[in-house]
Amino acid sequence: CGIVGYIGWRDAAPLVIEGLKRLEYRGYDSFGVATENGQIRVVKKSGRISENGADLTSLTGQIGIGHTRWATHGVPNDTNAHPHTDCTGRIAVVHNGIIENYALLKRKLIERGHRFKSETDTEVIAHLIEEYYKGDLLTAVGETLRHLEGSYAVLAIAENDPRIIVARKSSPLVLGIGDGEMLCASDITPLLEHTERAVFLKDGDIAALTPSRIDIYHDGVPVERSVDHITWSLDDARKGGFEHYMLKEIYEQPKVFFDTVKSTENDSRLPMLRIPAEVTVVACGTSYHAALIFRYLAEEYSHKRVSVEFASEFKYYTPPIRDMVIAVTQSGETADTLAAIERAKSRNCSTLAITNVLGSSITRIADWTLFMCAGPEISVAATKSFTAQLAVFMAILNEMCDGRFTDTLARAHCSVERVLSYELEDAVAIIKNASEMFYVGRGVFYPVALEGALKMKEISYIHAEGYAAGELKHGPFALLSEETPVVAICTPSPTYGVMLSNIKEMKARGAPVIGIGAEGDTEAQSIVDVFIPVPEDHQIVQALTVSVVLQLLAYHTAIALNRDIDKPRNLAKSVTVE
Ligand code: G6P
Repeated sequence: CGIVGYIGWRDAAPLVIEGLKRLEYRGYDSFGVATENGQIRVVKKSGRISENGADLTSLTGQIGIGHTRWATHGVPNDTNAHPHTDCTGRIAVVHNGIIENYALLKRKLIERGHRFKSETDTEVIAHLIEEYYKGDLLTAVGETLRHLEGSYAVLAIAENDPRIIVARKSSPLVLGIGDGEMLCASDITPLLEHTERAVFLKDGDIAALTPSRIDIYHDGVPVERSVDHITWSLDDARKGGFEHYMLKEIYEQPKVFFDTVKSTENDSRLPMLRIPAEVTVVACGTSYHAALIFRYLAEEYSHKRVSVEFASEFKYYTPPIRDMVIAVTQSGETADTLAAIERAKSRNCSTLAITNVLGSSITRIADWTLFMCAGPEISVAATKSFTAQLAVFMAILNEMCDGRFTDTLARAHCSVERVLSYELEDAVAIIKNASEMFYVGRGVFYPVALEGALKMKEISYIHAEGYAAGELKHGPFALLSEETPVVAICTPSPTYGVMLSNIKEMKARGAPVIGIGAEGDTEAQSIVDVFIPVPEDHQIVQALTVSVVLQLLAYHTAIALNRDIDKPRNLAKSVTVE
């Protein structure tokens, strides 16, 4: 979910709505805004902001809070949309996170006469504030928080109180300092239009915002938090002439890779990192695939043992871990990844975070942080952040291998440049009519295949399975037919010959095969139905180039199927709940 608040001299509602649009990638099944202008007014609706002709004219006033939702408790409908209000309608709250003890709290509140309207966990916050409200919203919110278990970033307003009270625990919240106005949001993208000055709240902080002041408290004591300078620009968060954010972000990848490798190499702490002989990487989704690619490369070239674990599994079982745990997360806010790194810390491991977001929660937990230079990624399907993760990992690998790959990494962006304009019509023509398909590769191209399949699933809704090429015959062959296309990565590598044999086996079972191989490889070309050439290069570079080709394949297929590219159904970019 995404939350935004504004207090200042301008009309709050349009500003809050604009901010929410920038956060829609965090959830987009319903939205709502509340303003204070002598009384609290609320407008909330199911559906997306952009597609919703909600009438906001009643929302007058210079204090406003808003929310865009990714449903957890309660279906996405008008009633469950935030903001939620108390019985009197004089208090409104928006919330991101999960209140784990809400059922108990709700029962007690009902016993005390509170009437609930929604099925959400959030509504208990509004009613608890009502219970404790004796004319001071800050005190009432502070008292309320003491009863909440779980995670929250919460914004609250009350009738005739000229403040927004905000608080966070295990959910992100950043404040923006403007001229005679203050903003708050789940991340910095809604702030970019208004200010470059941001304050990242710490877990457990509660703050009162007025147009000219921010007063922050921790454990009831006033505290100072530093003001950070935001380096992302508004242009970074705009489509810049592209039809979709995803395509724009795909096109940014050569620069993102180059910049991230340079910035990691120039980080004076890198030589001190000393990656131990055994390291564990924890991550989710696309970040997990970047970690798997690192595993293949690091084990091959540096002979260190790299284990990669789903963060969501790591926190619930006890794998033997030693020395160092690396957490890789674009957002720095994925709840499972945060829990995993906390677990590593509790087991006395040194911890390194790789993230894209300044001030994100993971940067506060890990001992070290290396930042990706991807800029804001708006499209839900991760593209440039994946490339930036690879860039950080490859710079680490290069350090582990005494600079062996410096030249390779310095020119890698050139290969990526050359594939960006691929529209892949022939491959799309085969895939778009399929309901299921496979992606196969060997070695480092196995996780590349996994990521290619994930991209296809996410945005085209075609069921795509990534497989280690040699494994397909151990079961999935039963599924092969003329209707199950296979994307096979057969770039030059020690497994090239066996990949070609695998392709022939798949062809023999009738599957149409789309091969991705080196330019000029007539042998591979002659055995596949469609051949997609990529510039020949070191496998480190080709892992990157092929990944970009697979992003484009998913993108152009989804376009052919008229899918919602940047906001695929049911997904959210930043999953801040377990
Ligand atoms: C969500 C996103 C994915 C992302 C995953 C991990 O599921 O939709 O694109 O890979 O979270 O996110 P993180 O921010 O931790 O990299």
